[in-house]
Amino acid sequence: MFPRLPAFLAIILFGLVAACGSSQDSEPMTLDELYASEEGQDTHSFANPTEARVTHVSLDLRADFEAQRMVGSATLDITAADDAEEIVLDARGLEIREVVSGDGRQLEWEMGEATDDIHGAPLTVQLDGAEQIKITYASAPDAAALQWLSPEQTTGGEHPFLFSQGQAILNRSWIPTQDSPGIRQSWDARIVVPSELRVVMSAEDLTPQGEAVEGEPDLTAYRFRMEHEVAPYLIAIGIGDLEFREIGPRSGVYAEPSVVGEAAEEFADLEEMIDAAERLYGEYRWGRYDLLVLPASFPFGGMENPRLTFVTPTVIAGDRSLVSLIAHELAHSWSGNLVTNASWDDFWLNEGFTVYFENRIMEEVYGEERAAMLADLGWSDMMDSIEEVGGLNSADTQLHLNLAGRDPDDGMTQIAYEKGAVFLRTVEAMVGRERLDAWLRSYFDRFAFQPQTSAGLIRDMRANLFEGNEADELGLEAWIYEPGLPENAVHIESTRFTVVDRAIESFVRGGQLVNVGWREWTTQERLRFLNGLPRDLDEEKLRTLDDAYDLSDAGNSEIRFAWLMLAIENRYEPARASVREFLTSMGRRKFVAPLFEALWAEGDWGREQARRIYREARSGYHSVTTGTVDETLSWNGAGDE
Ligand code: BES
Ligand code: ZN
Repeated sequence: MFPRLPAFLAIILFGLVAACGSSQDSEPMTLDELYASEEGQDTHSFANPTEARVTHVSLDLRADFEAQRMVGSATLDITAADDAEEIVLDARGLEIREVVSGDGRQLEWEMGEATDDIHGAPLTVQLDGAEQIKITYASAPDAAALQWLSPEQTTGGEHPFLFSQGQAILNRSWIPTQDSPGIRQSWDARIVVPSELRVVMSAEDLTPQGEAVEGEPDLTAYRFRMEHEVAPYLIAIGIGDLEFREIGPRSGVYAEPSVVGEAAEEFADLEEMIDAAERLYGEYRWGRYDLLVLPASFPFGGMENPRLTFVTPTVIAGDRSLVSLIAHELAHSWSGNLVTNASWDDFWLNEGFTVYFENRIMEEVYGEERAAMLADLGWSDMMDSIEEVGGLNSADTQLHLNLAGRDPDDGMTQIAYEKGAVFLRTVEAMVGRERLDAWLRSYFDRFAFQPQTSAGLIRDMRANLFEGNEADELGLEAWIYEPGLPENAVHIESTRFTVVDRAIESFVRGGQLVNVGWREWTTQERLRFLNGLPRDLDEEKLRTLDDAYDLSDAGNSEIRFAWLMLAIENRYEPARASVREFLTSMGRRKFVAPLFEALWAEGDWGREQARRIYREARSGYHSVTTGTVDETLSWNGAGDE
C-alpha cells in the first residue's frame, strides 16, 4: 500500500485512514451501484439504466404553431453494458417516424402499451451495437409538458407563445429519452421558429440573434448547449415575443415587451441574491442566472430550469414583496440541480433543502426579521398540509415517500418543502450554524452533478456531519422515514406576528380595525392576519375588511388569494366578481386549485360558480392545472361536468 514508506510511517498513515474510515463509507455510490440498488429505483420511468443509458440528447426540432407540435429529431448518445441488446426510453403520446443508428442503419423499435395516463409508455429500441440513435418524431398536440398559447392568451396579445414544464414526468411528452431524475444527460438543441419569435432554453444561448434557415426566409433557428449533465426534467423551452433586460453582470430577465420593465424593477436584487447564495454554499456553477417571466397561465410560481428560472407574472407585486420565490428557485441551482433527487420518492431532498437555503438567502439579503416571518408562515403551511393529508399518522407526512403507482404530483405536498426545511433547522439547532453550513457546502461539492437518495443523505450526515451520539439523539431516521412531526422540531417564531395575532383577537372581539396596523404591515404580516382569522366570519366583518383594505381588488396575488379563500368559505357575495376575475386571469395551480376546491365545498352556491368559471377558464390553463381541477370538479373530457 505504501511501498516506499518506512514501516512506522505506514502504520501512522494506516491508523489515520482507519480513523477516517467512516467517511470512506460515505463515498458516493457509483451510478452503476445506484441503479442496481433498491434505493436507486425510479418507479416512474421505464428506463433500464443498468443495461443502457442515455448520456447526451441532441434535439433538432421545429415548433409548428399551427399543428401545435414539435417536429424533428432527437439524437441520443448511449452507454451500454457489453451484453445490452436494447435501450428503453420514456415516451408519452409521441409519434415516432423512424429510429436509425448513428451510421444510418434502420433500428427496430417498439412502443409499448400505456397502462395509465401518467407514465406514458416504454419506447424500446434494439441497439444492434449502436452507440448513438436518432429518433425522428413529433409531439402530440396535447403533449402534457407543453402549452401552446394563442396570441390572445399572452400579455401582448399579438404573437403566440409556447412553454414547457418538465417536472416531474412530463418531458417525455416532447422528448424521447430516459425521463428519470437519476439519469443525467448533457444536451444541445437547434430549434426552428417563425422569425418574429425568440427561443430561450435552460442552457447556454449560442445564437442570441438567431440564424437564417436555408430556403426558409420566414423561419429562424436558435441553438443551445448544456455542457453539464442534468436531470432530464430540467430541459425547458420558452418561445414568444421576448425581450431581455439586464439586471447584473450575470443576470437578467426575459419577458414579453410590455412586462419586461416592471419585471426588471421587481427583480432588481437578483445579482445580490446570487452573491449571497455563493457566500453561503459555494460557487454558482451554471454561468448565467436569468429569469423568464411567462404568460399568466404558467402553472407554477417558479421552476428552477438551469440558467433560466421560469416564473409566474403573479410574483410581480410592484413592491418586491414576493421575491422569496426567486430566492427559492435560485437555491435550486445547488439543491435540486447540482444534487438531485434520484427518484420522486425523495422529492424532499430537492425542496426541503431548497426552502432552508431560500430562507438563508432571504436572511442575508433582507435581514433576520423578514426571514423569520417567512419561516413562520412556512410552519403554518406545514401544519395545514399535515391536516390536509389526513393528520400526523398519514404516510404522506413522511419526508421519504413511496409513490410507486401514484402520480408523483400527488405526493408533492408542502410537507416535502416545509417539514424538510424544519428538519434542517432542527439539525442547525443541534450542531450549530457553523457546522451545518460547512457540511452543506461540502455536501453540494461532493455530490455535485449527481443523484442523491434519503439513504445516501443519512450515510453522509452520519459520516461527515454528526459526531458521537448526535444522529440518534436527533432521531435522524425517524425524521426521514416516519410520519408525523418529531417533538424536537424547531419552530422559528416571528415576534412581529405576536402583534398581528393580537390584532386578530381584537378585531374578532370588537369588529373594529383600530388595533390593526395593516397599512404599516409588510405583505408577510398581512398574510399572517388574513390566514389567522377564524374561518367563519360574519358578513359585516368581511365587509369592514374589504372596504378598508380593498381586498377584492388586491394587486398582490398572495393577498388576493388569502382573501378570496376567506370570502368563499363565508359565501361572501360581494367577492364573486373578484373570484371570477382572478381565476380567469391566471393559471397558477397553487391559487387555482384551492379556490375551486373551496367553491366546490360550498354546496350549490359554490358549485354553480365553479362550473361557470371553469367552463370559461379551462382552455387557458396548462395541463398541470386542469389535471388537478378536473378531478375536483369531476370534469369529463367533453368539456363539461
Ligand atoms: N420545482 C418546483 C416546482 C415543481 C414542483 C414543479 C413539483 C413540478 C412538480 C419549484 O421550485 C417550486 O417549488 N415552486 C413553488 C414556489 C416556491 C417558492 C415554493 C411554486 O411553484 O409554488
Ligand atoms: Zn422548489
